[in-house]
Amino acid sequence: NTKKITNICCIGAGYVGGPTMAVIAQKCPHIKVTVVDLNEQRIADWNNADLDKLPIYEPGLADVVAEARGRNLFFSTDVDKAIDEAEMIFISVNTPTKTYGVGKGMAADLKYIELCARQIARVSKDDKIIVEKSTLPVRTAEALRTILTSTGNGVKFEILSSPEFLAEGTAVQDLMNPDRFLIGGEQTESGEAAVQALVDIYLNWVPRENIVTTRVWSSELSKLTANAFLAQRVSSINAISALCEKTGADVDEIARAIGKDSRIGAKFLKSSVGFGGSCFQKDILNLVYLCQHFNLPEVADYWAQVVKMNDYQKHRFAKNIIDSLFNTVSGKKIAFLGWAFKKDTNDTRETAALYVADELLQDRAEIHVYDPKVTEEQIFADLEYLQTHRVGQYVEQGEIMSMDEIRSLVTVHNDPYEAMASAHATAILTEWDEFKSYDWQKVYNDMLKPAFVFDGRNIVDKKQLSEIGFEVYNIGKGN
Ligand code: UDX
Ligand code: UDX
Ligand code: ADP
Repeated sequence: NTKKITNICCIGAGYVGGPTMAVIAQKCPHIKVTVVDLNEQRIADWNNADLDKLPIYEPGLADVVAEARGRNLFFSTDVDKAIDEAEMIFISVNTPTKTYGVGKGMAADLKYIELCARQIARVSKDDKIIVEKSTLPVRTAEALRTILTSTGNGVKFEILSSPEFLAEGTAVQDLMNPDRFLIGGEQTESGEAAVQALVDIYLNWVPRENIVTTRVWSSELSKLTANAFLAQRVSSINAISALCEKTGADVDEIARAIGKDSRIGAKFLKSSVGFGGSCFQKDILNLVYLCQHFNLPEVADYWAQVVKMNDYQKHRFAKNIIDSLFNTVSGKKIAFLGWAFKKDTNDTRETAALYVADELLQDRAEIHVYDPKVTEEQIFADLEYLQTHRVGQYVEQGEIMSMDEIRSLVTVHNDPYEAMASAHATAILTEWDEFKSYDWQKVYNDMLKPAFVFDGRNIVDKKQLSEIGFEVYNIGKGN
């Protein structure tokens, strides 16, 4: 006798909220889905008639939005109205790492969540199910509950945790065919009914065996654990890449060999210049902070090392460029292919490219960036942000540069060949497919000699490029 949900709202129209709600709306035409955000520009972009102008680039997303928008999918800035009308409210606001005060550089900043909770408490006139979608540290549901129930206006809230596991670049695919959807709820009668209401929504396209239900805290901690394990795999293979370079082994051969072991598995073993994205580092730091809070220093140190290894990998890549270019890059033109934290996304949060750029800029390199999806505005915003948030092992050591100085050293191009012309070196930071099919002979002809390629993603054909005449450096391939 669970209530069938017909009206849901999602607070936060970002990388998680936008695609998730678009897919729910497409798969459930009988449910009205309203996505709200305080950011007016973002909502305007989601409503743009030109689907190329959606605020987020994800393969397949435009088609889903085109089908559902205006039918049962709406984007709005009227947060109060959407909350009031909804039976189920997803909270999908950002939870960045705190940059101030207690837990600075580690704990999740829950101020946006708290604001949402207060707003929901203020506006709601009837019972609602609240679903945490953002990644949250364990026991946030309890904090939410405390805020929501303190209003004393008789409205009942059930709180569920349903973390999102979509990866950027494959968000629509991941949402359409998820390995699993996870729902955590209270083991009470009303808690179980709320879980069932959400199960019923997912059942519109996901088989029941792929919907996992747990208690709330397990669900919250599963999200942090999944991201910590994934990041740990990347740091583990990157640790081995450093050893390969010293010994002459080949990290991709090793990944192939160990990936055949079904206990290890073949995925997520691609050595790289370092992982980025909004989740991995943030969630691990969160986990570390939680372990410290619960007085488990050994556990905290264990996970902290995953981030340290990632910082080291980015630093190693930058340092290798400087060392190879005869110990200085000052005044030298270095082309960057890629700025996004991985291919098929315009997201740049925590991108390795930014940290590599920073180290080279500290040595006064002239950086020429080409990325097929990231805007010039975003690249400068990232560089500016770093100047005011110098946290992290190697970043802290850097000096703060003025934006004038940065603008005099960084140029963003729309044409990759222009970015690479007359460059001393080309560094590949993102694994965009198009980089593989460039006319590398032409690139070579136009670059200064010796022409260096530093492939931070092991995507170009080393043999072919070496035959053209390039000095090629790969990750984890005993050069
Ligand atoms: C291991 C490797 O599995 C094998 O491939 C290699 O050739 C030799 O080392 P073995 O030591 O025989 O084999 O046993 P294994 O099943 O891997 O277990 C090793 C230890 O890990 C055991 O003490 C086991 O109880 C423990 N373990 C394993 C866990 O605690 N949890 C697990 O999920 C798996
Ligand atoms: C991740 C999780 O995969 C997803 O489940 C969670 O919901 C959010 O965080 P995302 O950050 O979008 O998703 O991208 P992901 O594909 O996991 O890649 C993260 C970073 O690791 C990227 O910078 C990527 O280039 C890097 N990576 C990934 C590697 O360097 N090697 C690999 O083998 C895999
Ligand atoms: P994620 O990757 O988790 O989706 P984003 O930063 O892409 O994170 O999106 C989060 C969105 O949430 C932003 O667009 C932000 O404007 C919005 N947001 C934050 N707080 C609120 C709030 N109290 N009400 C409405 N929207 C909010």
